[in-house]
Amino acid sequence: MENATIKNPIICAIDTKDVQAAKNVVQSVQNSVGAIKLGLEFFTANGAAGVNTVAGDTPLFLDLKFHDIPNTVAGAIRSTAGINAFMLTIHTQGGKAMMQAAAKAAQDLPNKPMIIGVTILTSMAQEDLEDIGLKNSVSEQVKKLANLAQESGLAGVVCSPHEIEILRAQCGKDFKLIVPGIRPEGSSAGDQKRIMTPKEAISRGADYLVIGRPITEAKSPASMAMSIMGGLSL
Ligand code: C5P
Repeated sequence: MENATIKNPIICAIDTKDVQAAKNVVQSVQNSVGAIKLGLEFFTANGAAGVNTVAGDTPLFLDLKFHDIPNTVAGAIRSTAGINAFMLTIHTQGGKAMMQAAAKAAQDLPNKPMIIGVTILTSMAQEDLEDIGLKNSVSEQVKKLANLAQESGLAGVVCSPHEIEILRAQCGKDFKLIVPGIRPEGSSAGDQKRIMTPKEAISRGADYLVIGRPITEAKSPASMAMSIMGGLSL
């Protein structure tokens, strides 16, 4: 599961379906961020060819959050063979057999992407869990799913800044924690409710920081990414 050698921990989230707009972002940040992230919106509109056009040689986190029966998820992972992503996401709620199948399928790919689990979407609150019949608190459920992800052979999970310490303590130092909801000092929170600065997230134990609009909407995305890196004093 080792292909995580990106030059720094900042992953720039590009949330658009527009190929040219995405290319422009990549061009301006490719020398200053460790990787870019493309997700469902972009992939659904432009497919693998669009992803490859935009990513080029820039390390890619392909965030498609697969969730289906084990055989289908394993097939979807294998179908990323033509896309050189170093990191892919699946939903941990698909269960152990699905996660194991995904981890195994990734090992069969030449680039051996890290398979990262999504636990509970941060858009879901306590009452949303109750609506789908889950009795645990959000944080209990996140810990339970992170543990299951680790037992199933996943490389790590996506978590909110406020879950970093608890998951780091539970899962040990080698389990990757990928953290969105990051806002540099002074930048707008946008629709993110539970935010943290890059420096604090790293000091609490995050491995990768997913940062979108603070970089993509900055006057100079490249300078913003460099200034975030500078502030991390790595
Ligand atoms: O623009 P912003 O920095 O808020 O973008 C964060 C990125 O991380 C987006 O691509 C968003 O979909 C993703 N994300 C998130 N919260 C999660 C999981 C993923 O914001 N819990």
